[in-house]
Amino acid sequence: MATVNFKSESFLLLLALILNGCGFNHPKTPVTDSNQNIPVSFSFLTQNIFLPKCSQCHETNMADYSYLMNRNYVVPGSAETSVLYQLVSTGEMPRNGPRLSDSEVNAIYKWIQNGARDN
Ligand code: HEC
Repeated sequence: MATVNFKSESFLLLLALILNGCGFNHPKTPVTDSNQNIPVSFSFLTQNIFLPKCSQCHETNMADYSYLMNRNYVVPGSAETSVLYQLVSTGEMPRNGPRLSDSEVNAIYKWIQNGARDN
């Protein structure tokens, strides 16, 4: 009996980890980039991507949370339908390149999938 309980607990834990990884859940701890183990928060993206790589043309707009949300450039939980993600993953932005690295695009994906929180 104890063995059965142990196994079902392990299964639930595994399921929780899988669902968490797929973004069905909202983890309390910051999501980390699997390649670099860096936290993915809006301030992280702002400092490392949006300000250095977008402000040449967009000034500080891409680092302005309300600006992105008010224009529906970001749909929380749905990277695929978010204009911001579409543009960086296809390499359309930054315009005239160089395109963002896979880990930068991945970090934006994870931030959006996990609810695109303002932190
Ligand atoms: C060299 C200039 C340049 C850089 C750098 C640049 N953009 Fe843009 N971006 C533009 C221009 C020009 C437009 C307007 C495009 C249009 O209307 O066809 C635009 C439009 C956009 C839009 C709005 C698209 C829409 O459909 O309304 C988003 C979102 C965007 N850029 C995101 C970014 C992000 C994120 C970065 C940095 C990773 C970035 N851009 C870097 C020039 C740039």
